[in-house]
Amino acid sequence: MKDQADKLRQVIDNLKLKQAMDQTANTVPQFKRSARVITVTSGKGGVGKTNVTINLAIALSEQGLRVVILDADFGLANIDVLFGIVPQFTLLDVIKNKKNILEILSEGPMDIKFISGGSGVEELVKLNRGQLLRFVDNISLLDKIADIILVDTGAGLSENVMSFVMAADEVLLVTTPEPTSVTDAYALIKVVSNRDKNKKIKVIVNRAESVNEANDILNKLVLVADKFLGLALEPIGYILQDDAVIKAVKQQKPFSISFPKCMATKYIKDISKRLIESEKNIQISQNIGFKGFMNRLVSFMKI
Ligand SMILES: Nc1ncnc2c1ncn2[C@@H]1O[C@H](COP(=O)(O)OP(=O)(O)OP(=O)(O)O)[C@@H](O)[C@H]1O
Ligand SMILES: [Mg+2]
Repeated sequence: MKDQADKLRQVIDNLKLKQAMDQTANTVPQFKRSARVITVTSGKGGVGKTNVTINLAIALSEQGLRVVILDADFGLANIDVLFGIVPQFTLLDVIKNKKNILEILSEGPMDIKFISGGSGVEELVKLNRGQLLRFVDNISLLDKIADIILVDTGAGLSENVMSFVMAADEVLLVTTPEPTSVTDAYALIKVVSNRDKNKKIKVIVNRAESVNEANDILNKLVLVADKFLGLALEPIGYILQDDAVIKAVKQQKPFSISFPKCMATKYIKDISKRLIESEKNIQISQNIGFKGFMNRLVSFMKI
C-alpha cells in the first residue's frame, strides 16, 4: 500500500514539476530565447568601433550577460589584434563544414567569446541553397549560448557592411565630432532609412573634447535625422578623448582591463547600462536572434 502511495506521490510531483517548467517556458519572453544582435558600424573609418565593441562586451559581461563578438571586418584583423589573440579557426571553417560554430569560438577576457569572420562572408554567397540552410542551422546554436552578439564591421557604405547593418536587430553607430565623420555617419543613416525607416539606430560620439561637444553632436544628428529622414535616432552615450585608450591599444589590451578606472571605461559602462535598459523597449517580434540575422544577411548578400 505504502509503495503504491509513494509511487502516486512521485507521479504527482513529476507532473507538478513538468507544469512548472511549462509555465516558465511560457513566461520567459521570446527574445530571451535568442540572442540580441547588434551591429557596430560607422560612416568613416578609424572612429573607434573596435574599441567600443570590445570594451562594451566586457562591460556587458561584467553585468552578467553572455557576450559573443563576431569580427566582420574582413579586410583587416581587428578584434584579435586588440585582444592580442590569434584565432585558430574562422567562419570559413564552418562554411566549409570542417568545424561547427562552437569549435571556432575563441576565448577572450571576461568569458567573452569571439568569432573571426575571416573571408567567410564572401564565401557564403557561393553556397547553394541546401548548403546555406545547413550553415544557418549550424550557426544558430549561438542563440543558445549568447545573450548579446556584437558584430564589429568595417567602415563605410559598401554592400557588405550594409548587409550586416540591415540584418541586425539594432545598429550602434559610432562617430567622432570631426565634420567628415559626422557627415559620413549621416550618409549611412540616410541609406539605412531609405531601406528601413524603423531600423533602431543608436549613436555614440567617441573622442569628444568635452561633454558639451558630445551632446551637441548627438543633438544635431537626432534633429537632422528626424527632420529630413523621419528616423528616430537614439543617442546612447559618448566617450571623451582619453590617452588611456591609445596606451591600451599599443599594449593590445582592452582599455577597460588595462585601465579600469580611466574615463573611457566609466563612459563605456554608462553606455552598457543604457543598452541593457533599452532592451525593454524592443518588441519581441523585432528580435530575430542570430539565426534570423544570418538568414537576413544571406538573403541581402544574394541580391
Ligand atoms: N576615446 C578615445 N580616446 C583616444 N583615442 C581613441 C579613442 N577611441 C579610439 N581612439 C584611437 O583611435 C584608434 C582607432 O580605433 P579603432 O580601431 O577602435 O577604430 P575603428 O573604427 O574600429 O577603425 P577601423 O574603421 O579601421 O576598423 C585607436 O587605435 C586609438 O588610437
Ligand atoms: Mg575596427
